[in-house]
Amino acid sequence: MKTISFINLKGGVGKTTVSTNLAYLLAESWELSVLFIDNDKQGNASRWFGADEAKGTLANILMDGAKMSEVFQHSRISNIDFVAADMGLLEANFQVLSEQEERQDILLKNALAEVADRYDICIIDNPPDINMSVFNALMVTDDVIIVTLPETDSIEGIRKMEEQIHDVKKFHPTLSIRGILINQYIAYPGFSNALDEVAGAGIPLFRTCISYATRNAKHGLMTASRDGKSIFEVCPNCRVARDIMRFAEELLG
Ligand SMILES: Nc1ncnc2c1ncn2[C@@H]1O[C@H](COP(=O)(O)OP(=O)(O)OP(=O)(O)O)[C@@H](O)[C@H]1O
Ligand SMILES: [Mg+2]
Repeated sequence: MKTISFINLKGGVGKTTVSTNLAYLLAESWELSVLFIDNDKQGNASRWFGADEAKGTLANILMDGAKMSEVFQHSRISNIDFVAADMGLLEANFQVLSEQEERQDILLKNALAEVADRYDICIIDNPPDINMSVFNALMVTDDVIIVTLPETDSIEGIRKMEEQIHDVKKFHPTLSIRGILINQYIAYPGFSNALDEVAGAGIPLFRTCISYATRNAKHGLMTASRDGKSIFEVCPNCRVARDIMRFAEELLG
């Protein structure tokens, strides 16, 4: 099982949009077996997958020692199971931080070992934050994808992420930054300067950018998010859908 984490300290850059739609595409078109982990207490991806609030969440794994098989849920998409998140993750992060006796950065790793051979790929949607659950996610990640807008503030977020990832690599040397994915790409004056700044950060950049959704595609994204559908079901021919397909090809070959 290969594990991919979508991450950026900055919020609203498209981590959830890209990671959930990629999961859908890989399960439906590539016929891969996908485990999706929502690592964000906002629970946006969990709602999108139709999480049952009565069932367990990632917080139970981190806080109560729950097993992965006790917590994961089947989604409406036959090849995707997911681990939900909710505000309980806030408390889990505090508790994990105060626990000094055992290593607290490998709780997710220990839980994932139980189910790793059931899935081809694990996709983790991270919060716009660095906390113990993010360190747990990085400890099981092979490839990090930093999603960014082509703006200075977002690029600053990349530098901060890189420092954190560098620190985690001391404990998990095969963790690598697979690349920076530019979302909401729109040609505007100064864009190439922003791109140079990204390249200057010394991290590989995906050739594929996800276009800024204009009227049809934006409507598609909003409808998809409201109805818990993928962009491929709502507007399969819009630019954003086609870009995510190209991104999947670039990512997985
Ligand atoms: N390519 C795009 N074009 C236009 N709007 C987009 C695009 N990608 C995402 N959005 C919109 O941007 C908003 C933020 O997206 P999303 O929730 O995926 O970001 P995020 O990085 O997961 O946010 P957070 O950090 O809060 O978890 C959403 O309203 C989404 O529909
Ligand atoms: Mg999100």
